[in-house]
Amino acid sequence: MATQKLWLRCEKKEFERRSALSPSTAKKLIKAGFEIFVERDEQRIFDDAEFEAVGCKLVDHNSWPSAPQDIPIIGLKELPVSEDPLPHTHIQFAHCYKKQAGWSTVLSRFHRGGGTLYDLEFLTDATGRRVAAFGYHAGFAGAAAGALALAAQKKGEKLGRLEPYENESAMIESLKTTLGGSAKGVRALVIGALGRCGRGAVELFRKIGLDEDDIVKWDMAETAKGGPFQEILDVDIFVNCIYLSSAIPPFLTHEQINSAGSRRRLSVVVDVSCDTTNPYNPIPIYSINTTFSEPTVPVILNDGLPRVSVISIDHLPTLLPREASEQFSSDLLPSLLELPSRSSARVWTEAEKLYTEKLGEAVQEEGLR
Ligand SMILES: NC(=O)c1ccc[n+]([C@@H]2O[C@H](COP(=O)([O-])OP(=O)(O)OC[C@H]3O[C@@H](n4cnc5c(N)ncnc54)[C@H](O)[C@@H]3O)[C@@H](O)[C@H]2O)c1
Repeated sequence: MATQKLWLRCEKKEFERRSALSPSTAKKLIKAGFEIFVERDEQRIFDDAEFEAVGCKLVDHNSWPSAPQDIPIIGLKELPVSEDPLPHTHIQFAHCYKKQAGWSTVLSRFHRGGGTLYDLEFLTDATGRRVAAFGYHAGFAGAAAGALALAAQKKGEKLGRLEPYENESAMIESLKTTLGGSAKGVRALVIGALGRCGRGAVELFRKIGLDEDDIVKWDMAETAKGGPFQEILDVDIFVNCIYLSSAIPPFLTHEQINSAGSRRRLSVVVDVSCDTTNPYNPIPIYSINTTFSEPTVPVILNDGLPRVSVISIDHLPTLLPREASEQFSSDLLPSLLELPSRSSARVWTEAEKLYTEKLGEAVQEEGLR
């Protein structure tokens, strides 16, 4: 069989330091017979030399448009907006299957170029579960940002710009220092604690020193009684990590916070789920997504009440790009190893079926033939 080639492109989104492939995943693919091309990229958390050292071939930055058309291009985030036809096979998050803004324009580029899209969000195993996701590190980073916001708030300050950390131990050390050595004594509630994001949030709280009893873990069973929940007002940090799939009563409301007066502990809400504009958002106390440069938004409360801040950043794993990329690409590895037989391997045939369906909708939307 011919050698399977794969081309890791650079990321063009600002602040995005994550990578779809890590050097260790690339090494395993090469061992399995792949030939891996890696675009030089200074923004990527891994150095070019780390890829070269495991046998990847370095190629020019952003040179994928002129790559041979039989080489699949792998990346993470959306391609820069353009009208150029796409003749290659692309493996990436494209965010165009749920009719997001510009969805049909993106798909029409594939239609005109004759390429194929395998969207990473829709690569699933036989049980329908995603083969690779960034949830764990989203929860981990969200809880970290929450702890930083609490520390700032205790000093009467607002949390400043967040910068990605080189690695997890640098993050934990920096957090502990900011928190005066440890976060012992802080109390947190994680809802959706059994999911990917929730497990990450719980683990971060453990690593920065919260007592196990001070990490309250809720999932479906605990919220079945229906909100709003007084228990949220009784912790310093509340982290929402649920996967919202239907209308549910709110977990927390303005009225509830106002009527508790100063008799509440809650200071920071981290909405990892970020269902900000969803009509069923169970935390209807804020209405915007926050950013790395402005990580918090204050909840508008009655005069004189202690502050509550919300963090609602929708790309949290970027705070910990090395570990997030490492985990994502190692979860993706078994599927990548099946790439040579993608015309029959279930994970790829299912993803292609979905692509064909979405392409058909886009062709109709754009009036193409
Ligand atoms: N902000 C970010 O950067 C970021 C990154 C990745 C994922 N996310 C989002 O985080 C959310 C969770 O993702 P995940 O991968 O952890 O999902 P998951 O399916 O692994 O976990 C979700 C958990 O929520 C629980 N849950 C669902 N409804 C609940 C309810 N009403 N009460 C209590 N628990 C409930 C489920 O039982 C499950 O344990 C998704 O909306 C996802 O889009 C955000």
